[in-house]
Amino acid sequence: MIKLKTVLVKPSTRVYERAGELLRSGALVAFPTETVYGLGGNALDPEAGKKIYAAKGRPGDNPLIVHISSPEEAESVAYTNEDYYKLAEAFMPGPLTVVLPKKDIVPDSVTGGIKTVAVRCPAHPVARELIRVAGVPIAAPSANLSGSPSPTTADYVMSDLDGRIDMIIDGGQSEIGVESTVVSLTGDVCTVLRPGEVSPRELYAVLGDVAVAEAVKVPSAAGENPESPGMKYKHYAPETPLVLVSGEREAVIAYVNSEKRKKAVLAYSEDAKKYTDAYVIDIGAAEDAHSQMHNLFKALRDVEAAEAEIIYANLPPETDDFLAVYNRMIRACGGEVINAGR
Ligand code: TXA
Ligand code: MG
Repeated sequence: MIKLKTVLVKPSTRVYERAGELLRSGALVAFPTETVYGLGGNALDPEAGKKIYAAKGRPGDNPLIVHISSPEEAESVAYTNEDYYKLAEAFMPGPLTVVLPKKDIVPDSVTGGIKTVAVRCPAHPVARELIRVAGVPIAAPSANLSGSPSPTTADYVMSDLDGRIDMIIDGGQSEIGVESTVVSLTGDVCTVLRPGEVSPRELYAVLGDVAVAEAVKVPSAAGENPESPGMKYKHYAPETPLVLVSGEREAVIAYVNSEKRKKAVLAYSEDAKKYTDAYVIDIGAAEDAHSQMHNLFKALRDVEAAEAEIIYANLPPETDDFLAVYNRMIRACGGEVINAGR
């Protein structure tokens, strides 16, 4: 791979124009969204699709999300339906991605060869202006190296992708912190393929019927084929092994404190001071799913500084509100859960 000079810039009229030119000419530009940073390329350019996979080191069968500047723009890349517009009305622009049958204009290199396409209309003003100025839909996975946590700041993008892409637009820290909710509208019932800020309960309130794919709650074994191909890979995993501990909070604290190895803990705010001999990162109050979403990926990156032998975190509840946090934690630990009891 040729080493590129990656420029890190703040948004301005000139920057949007330059970024638009880069995208139209087939180059890659990372940009902020309200969920996480995206690694953008022209979604209608087969070569740009290939470059995105190469820059991330991503398996070619894991399709990209196509970002659009208005819900109606989905018409240019996908066959929409009534449910799509109900969801668009309720949640777009915002952190919801919808999988629909794809139109031929979208190259196979963007969808990993499958016959559907995921569309998302982000709410972040920088993302919206970039798509508008570029004048083409933008294919963008999260702007991390494949396998590491999705980046929530421009600096994290730089540390993963320096030399691999042309430009990074710095729009500050991503508000939501975990990737968008991905739903499929290609079957009989709207199915959640990846949980996010928009919860199954909220989708249900709009559509009256919603299913949650099984792969959301269990990391699927290698070789299995979940509907959302991204769900089959170990993801977000810090280099140090992460172990989730279930059970009552005080039991979890006692269990972790009995660990003699050099340890780090991703702790609830209320418990942070109760851990002994540990490098502690506060991920938010126990009941506050939004704070935990916001902090999780940052914590999974920052925890490496501890140079610990093992990292512990509470097993999140499997409730509607915490589904996104639960899903990311389970995948980051590769399924390693210990029960500390009561
Ligand atoms: O919040 C987000 O969605 C961020 C920002 C940048 O928009 N993007 C993002 O993209 O997380 P990525 O590529 O890291 O994750 C896309 C997910 C993967 O799990 C992928 O398998 C799934 O969406 N996906 C994409 N196209 C699909 C399709 N046609 N059918 C099923 N799943 C699809
Ligand atoms: Mg990703």
